Amino acid sequence: MTLNKHALYINARLFIFTILFAVLAMHVHAPARAQSPGTFTLGNKEFLLNGKPFVIRAAELHYPRIPKEYWEHRIQLCKAMGMNTVCIYLFWNIHEQKPDVYDFSGQNDVAEFVRLVQKNGMYCIVRPGPYVCAEWDMGGLPWWLLKKKDIAVRSMEDPYFITRTQKFLKEAAKQLAPLQIQNGGNIIMVQVENEYATFGSDGRYMETIRNSVRSAGFDKAQLFRCDWSSNFNKYQLDGVATTLNFGAGSNIDNQFKKFQEIYPTAPLMCSEYWTGWFDHWGKPHETRSVNTFIGSLKDMMDRKISFSLYMAHGGTSFGQWGGANAPPYSAMATSYDYNAPVGEQGNITEKFFAVRDLLKNYLQEGEILPDPPAEKRVITIPEFELNESAPLFENLPPGKRTETIRPMEDFDQGWGRILYRTTIAASAAKRKIVITELHDWASVFIDGKPIAKLDRRRGDNTVEIPASQTKLRLDILVEATGRVNYGKAIIDRKGITEKVEITEGSGLKEIKDWTVYNFPVDYNFQNKYTRFSSRQVTGPAWYRGKFILRETGDTFLDVSTWGKGMVWVNGHNLGRFWKIGPQQTLFVPGVWLKKGENELLILDVDQPSSAKVAGLAKPILDKINPDASLLSRFIGQNLDLSNEVPVSKGEFGPEEGWKTIKFDKAHTGRFFCFEALSAQQANDPLTTVAELELIGDDGNNLAPLKWKVVYADSEEVTASNSSADKVFDTQESTFWQSQSSGAKPSHPHHLLIDLGEVVSVSGFRYLPRSDKKTGGMVKGYRIYLKNAAFKF
Ligand code: GLA
Ligand code: CA
Repeated sequence: MTLNKHALYINARLFIFTILFAVLAMHVHAPARAQSPGTFTLGNKEFLLNGKPFVIRAAELHYPRIPKEYWEHRIQLCKAMGMNTVCIYLFWNIHEQKPDVYDFSGQNDVAEFVRLVQKNGMYCIVRPGPYVCAEWDMGGLPWWLLKKKDIAVRSMEDPYFITRTQKFLKEAAKQLAPLQIQNGGNIIMVQVENEYATFGSDGRYMETIRNSVRSAGFDKAQLFRCDWSSNFNKYQLDGVATTLNFGAGSNIDNQFKKFQEIYPTAPLMCSEYWTGWFDHWGKPHETRSVNTFIGSLKDMMDRKISFSLYMAHGGTSFGQWGGANAPPYSAMATSYDYNAPVGEQGNITEKFFAVRDLLKNYLQEGEILPDPPAEKRVITIPEFELNESAPLFENLPPGKRTETIRPMEDFDQGWGRILYRTTIAASAAKRKIVITELHDWASVFIDGKPIAKLDRRRGDNTVEIPASQTKLRLDILVEATGRVNYGKAIIDRKGITEKVEITEGSGLKEIKDWTVYNFPVDYNFQNKYTRFSSRQVTGPAWYRGKFILRETGDTFLDVSTWGKGMVWVNGHNLGRFWKIGPQQTLFVPGVWLKKGENELLILDVDQPSSAKVAGLAKPILDKINPDASLLSRFIGQNLDLSNEVPVSKGEFGPEEGWKTIKFDKAHTGRFFCFEALSAQQANDPLTTVAELELIGDDGNNLAPLKWKVVYADSEEVTASNSSADKVFDTQESTFWQSQSSGAKPSHPHHLLIDLGEVVSVSGFRYLPRSDKKTGGMVKGYRIYLKNAAFKF
């Protein structure tokens, strides 16, 4: 056991300031009391609060991403930034972790959060889901829905989904309906579903959710829905206001153009103005510059357009709550800093001041901009070693037999790791095993020796097994990262979800008869079967260490020497780490630390290079150690199109928005190539593509679930995260960009996609970037589609 007796470096000035502020604050804020009932309604092109015009300046905060003790601090920061409203999602899956067991207490006490918002003189917008997206495991839906094999979500197809949704909404309304403004609370609006048009177009489903929100108890507040300028018209929903979401630097007039044609008298609101963006494991840290971001915010203020900053402060996806995007599958980092105006630790950034300086010019009658509250104290912890360990293979929980491979959910396990063990017969020849649907990362062992690491992001599914004269023990240790939270791939079970096969003759045969070991994420489980010792170990293991603090404060735990896994401090789950970055530190809230002895527990399913940690004063969010090149092109690789005949060619016009091209006749093929010949501006060497869609024979888009980038001649992955797969991530605000920092290779630019199967295509759609910049917008193009792979 290491006892760390080093003194802490505390910023004493900040400390005194914090105490002073706390004392002052106690006097300034009267205890929360119910106000007299008010109204919030839709007027002619404006919102009306108690009958008077009101521009919503909202700040999105997520209560589970902020330790409860810090809720009020973050609310006060938002007020000091110039906001009059706080916007929140409800996260169904934290409140109902087991069917019918609801928890709205402590960290989950969302009513208390809303009351704190009211206490600080702000209004509240509530977005109860059921689906929320939010880069949160399964978009906020409970994992146990997946125990139903044929579950359909966000649709009328499955009455079970609708019933569960209605039950949850009722429980949520019990907590929050009393806080509607008409009841003397501060809730002015309640959202129905979330960006449904990115998923479907069934108006009946949205009507059902609208009615369920109302009958649950949100029967007085103004309802609204949010979608995008390109898709809000895919379905209609009466009695509900429509708002639009878009990103930093958008052209405001373009964004609202079609909306105003269709709803000429509706108030305008950007319900999510993206201040930054979220990080994926293994991909560069995302930022959005202050200038890009602030200009469009000013445009909105000048037009009296209401907005909500998504995120005002992102916080942290503690524990196992981070989600994933697909296609391509890509899990979310633990930090949800979001490059937002208020940083992950509650720290004030340059963007914060830019917003405050702007908004002080647009305050409404009677409003005063308070000073920001003092920042929270930060401490450092000198490096120390975790010198107790417990190897995973020597500390297995009781196993369960299963004939066929089954996903984690079948064993009543929501998150974490699962070990599949079996015995394979002797063989004089080498064999391979093929895993169908690995979710999401695995280490494979033969007779206890590691032989391969497989990663869903790369599509890894095959392992070579050496020849052997004796039978072999096969272990597949699978770690689940986040469940998909967006789009059609949201049914995302974990572990191995289909089967494992092994070579037999010239074919493959399914391996049967497994023993399964489940490793859930709760802290108590970690201590249930583990026996720690001070022995040096290799491979997957728990590590434990103690450290002493004289004073507590926030810190960033440096885990850069660790492989892949999870960290608990004093029983609090700090979240996932992964050496590939971009984050190398984990945020430790000071309120989870103690004066005196603290315990740190790390489960590493890979291998640390050294079992040491330290507490840093600043996070490391942008150090990426990719395990493979970020580029979709090998050095010296050149696409050869000399013998290829395009199925379509032409020129796009210069205007923004989707462009649809119909082929003369349908073409079939599996390999698709987009060739950009020129840009809209003369001499612009760049190519940018926000989205590419292929249209099937029935006129509908082909789902890009199996698509893979095979080649892109050039990608910007340094200055921004603009890799080629951004053309089919179904996010309109992200785009592929040819290299724009350093060398700027010129046209033609090529993007080659393996569609995963032969399809019939009758046309395609291209979406140019939609921020105010126009660099790289494609003019001349050619399209190729073939059955055989392209030549290099
Ligand atoms: C959408 C969703 C949000 C979030 C953002 C991206 O707007 O509504 O929940 O996922 O995208 O951060
Ligand atoms: Ca995109």
